[in-house]
Amino acid sequence: MTRGFVHSPSPTRVVFGAGTVAAVAEEVRRVGGSRVLLLARPRHAERVAAALGELVVAQFDGARMHTPVEVTAQALDVLKSAAADCVVAVGGGSTTGLAKALAARTGVPQVILPTTYAGSEVTPVLGETENGRKTTRRSPDVLPETVIYDVDLTLGLPVPTTVTSGINALAHAVEALYSPEANPQVDAVALQAIRSITHALPLVAANPSDVDARAELLESAWLAGTCLSVSMGLHHRLCHLLGGQFDLPHAETHTVMLPQVMAYMEKEAPAALARVAEVLDVPDAAAAVFDLVVSLGGPTSLRELGLTESSLDGIEPATVLRAAWEGRRPEGAPELSALTAQVIGSFDETPDPRLKRLLTDLVRHLHHFAVHNDLTEEEWLFAIDFLTRTGQISDDKRKEFVLLSDTLGVSSIVDALTNSRSPLTTPSAVLGPFYVEGPPAMEHGADISGGLDGEPLWVSTAITDVDGTPVPGAVVDVWQSNKDGFYDVQLPDLDGPVLRARFVADDQGRLEFWTILPKEYPVPEDGPVGQMLGGTNRHPYRAPHVHFMIMAPGHHKLVTQLFVKGGRYLDSDTVFGVKDGLIVDFPVAEGAPPAGREVTGGWRRLDYTFRIGR
Ligand code: BEZ
Ligand code: FE
Repeated sequence: MTRGFVHSPSPTRVVFGAGTVAAVAEEVRRVGGSRVLLLARPRHAERVAAALGELVVAQFDGARMHTPVEVTAQALDVLKSAAADCVVAVGGGSTTGLAKALAARTGVPQVILPTTYAGSEVTPVLGETENGRKTTRRSPDVLPETVIYDVDLTLGLPVPTTVTSGINALAHAVEALYSPEANPQVDAVALQAIRSITHALPLVAANPSDVDARAELLESAWLAGTCLSVSMGLHHRLCHLLGGQFDLPHAETHTVMLPQVMAYMEKEAPAALARVAEVLDVPDAAAAVFDLVVSLGGPTSLRELGLTESSLDGIEPATVLRAAWEGRRPEGAPELSALTAQVIGSFDETPDPRLKRLLTDLVRHLHHFAVHNDLTEEEWLFAIDFLTRTGQISDDKRKEFVLLSDTLGVSSIVDALTNSRSPLTTPSAVLGPFYVEGPPAMEHGADISGGLDGEPLWVSTAITDVDGTPVPGAVVDVWQSNKDGFYDVQLPDLDGPVLRARFVADDQGRLEFWTILPKEYPVPEDGPVGQMLGGTNRHPYRAPHVHFMIMAPGHHKLVTQLFVKGGRYLDSDTVFGVKDGLIVDFPVAEGAPPAGREVTGGWRRLDYTFRIGR
């Protein structure tokens, strides 16, 4: 389904860095200000006042959480009596909220210097409280003109506030992903914000004066704040309600509620929550955020914020609020990384470093696969049985494991990694399960079809180096199916090998032979691989082709296939073996057939030069 969206980028100017507080006077002048009302706590006021110099005409430090209208009225008096024409706010969400409230009433331009991660400085949203009721308005008039992020201003933010404020920022990014107004730009920003907030928060908590981690956190809080350009959902609704009604602390409430709401949204918006889990590389996003809060020492229950259980009566969704009141860990997969680490550790003494690396990575991916998909015992036993049957049906002619690797595309991946490194050589293609060692040697001009029915095909090929020099004496094995799509090894009634042969290239590096035109054919469907194809509604067909294996001393072995141009299934080959460079013309031929062959009806030819590398 095409999603529609409206995106209206914010006009707010953003100045980011360390020491950027020095730019505040210039930024005030840029917005046309000459008489500044400074809203700031004493802790930051001095620094910013010094940078503003004579521009400051008044100060106010009474900002309060949830922007009560009576506080705004006091600040408004100060603004008016000082004839201020600009507000500069230094602080967290409360100070920013007051600046916005003043702008909403007077239209004064705002320059904001955030000292926390709340993000409200980049939103056109103003939440205010009057008589215990929270009201929210959204208007471009409250959007600050300029935001100056100075990481130095955040260095002193205590760890508990850092944690709750950081989780508050995380909530903006998470809720943006399932907003009905979501758009691809906000999605991308939200995912990046989630990635970097969860990366930086533990680093800052461990070392609050780690400037790089502080900068990452501040940057990502800005990103998360910009996500508020789309409407927020359940989490913000509940936090506003709880904040307005019970005067709960803002960031702490966000911190308690986020994992609980995420757990609820796993059912309502599974795709969005799955994206969060993916960037966090965890099986369950809600449980992971809960665990993160615990590890950072943040609050996990409304109870510890001082709320009584009965105050939640009648508020929906009751299950979410009960879980939040208790601080219940959202049910996710158990924490299994220690087990994975233990298994990986068991390979520590492996003498062969390559073996150690491959086993370690295999275990890591297998465990991740199991955890990520919440694999059931029944599913795993099915997989083991599937592999057991794959082994049981295999022998030297029936190579079901090769077929499994082919139909899952792994053979083509390994082939591409190993063989297709040079554009100068003929592309390679998968070996497949029907190659048989030591095919019968044949002379040039021979017919390899053993007299089987089919449209006669004359194959004339040359083997050369990448520069076109012939490679005489190259050993060339060819094999293909009959006109019904069967290889000889699939036909027990056939007497000896047919449609397979070994040639040796002549002095000019050439070889020629008769065969029949190959057709599309199904890979064997009577085993586990057939069950996989059937169970996934995949067709079992390979596009029509002839196999070649070319070996010459001093050259890399080339295993490849030539596909019949215009043949069926070229774009949906069931083993993913077709490459554009291997699709060639097998044209209807004119004139007398070569090598003394008598042909009734038409015949075709294939002319091709293989280039092999050293
Ligand atoms: C084949 O072309 O012979 C083949 C390759 C992969 C799987 C099945 C058949
Ligand atoms: Fe084949």
